[in-house]
Amino acid sequence: MEKGKFIAIEGVDGAGKGTQIQLLKNYLQDNNLLDNFLFLKEPGGTIQGEDIRKTILKYDLDSITEVLLFYSSRNELIKNKIIPALKEGKNIVCDRYELSTFAYQIYGRQQKQNKKLIEFLQDKISLIPDKYYFFDLDVEISKQRANKRDENNTRFDNEGVTFFNRVREGYKKEIKKYNHKIIDANKSIEDINEIFLADLKPILNIKK
Ligand code: TYD
Repeated sequence: MEKGKFIAIEGVDGAGKGTQIQLLKNYLQDNNLLDNFLFLKEPGGTIQGEDIRKTILKYDLDSITEVLLFYSSRNELIKNKIIPALKEGKNIVCDRYELSTFAYQIYGRQQKQNKKLIEFLQDKISLIPDKYYFFDLDVEISKQRANKRDENNTRFDNEGVTFFNRVREGYKKEIKKYNHKIIDANKSIEDINEIFLADLKPILNIKK
């Protein structure tokens, strides 16, 4: 059986990745393709990872603890969900992945000294996605959107514009190491969806 494809979706909080992931799900459902996909979200996505997620979002943590917990959650996800599903021929769409750690923990948090640790963990633990999509939006706009959502704000949502500008800059630098597409998320939801699907379909071998 052919291995599935692994797609990772990234963006600063409020950049619209959730909406685009939902539109992708709708498209797959409408075309009877959804069974061939597994949608995941980081941090979390496994029983173990959901507990780790709670700890990450609840407490102020030392920067090394924060990195190790994101990788603990990621390792459970990779071993228990991502690898088995890819082997079965399923495609994975993951809402956030390792690029978030580079962008938030190194650039957002200004902890360049932790880059070697992250690269070590990447080498030991990670699978590199077939493609990264980065939904890129002006930080002021994404912050307004993220603030409007009343769902439980995490301690990351409470960071200021300068933090998220560093995160955005980090994304743009680090994404260059991978197969990727940066999508301008200032466009309309429909236009973004069209650009996203047009790029994604050939990778997933979808002809419709
Ligand atoms: P979540 O509520 O899942 O945010 P979103 O819906 O925007 O994805 O919260 C996860 C937060 O954790 C989010 O603000 C980004 C942050 N994060 C990191 O700092 N590093 C990481 O490696 C990951 C995966 C997430």
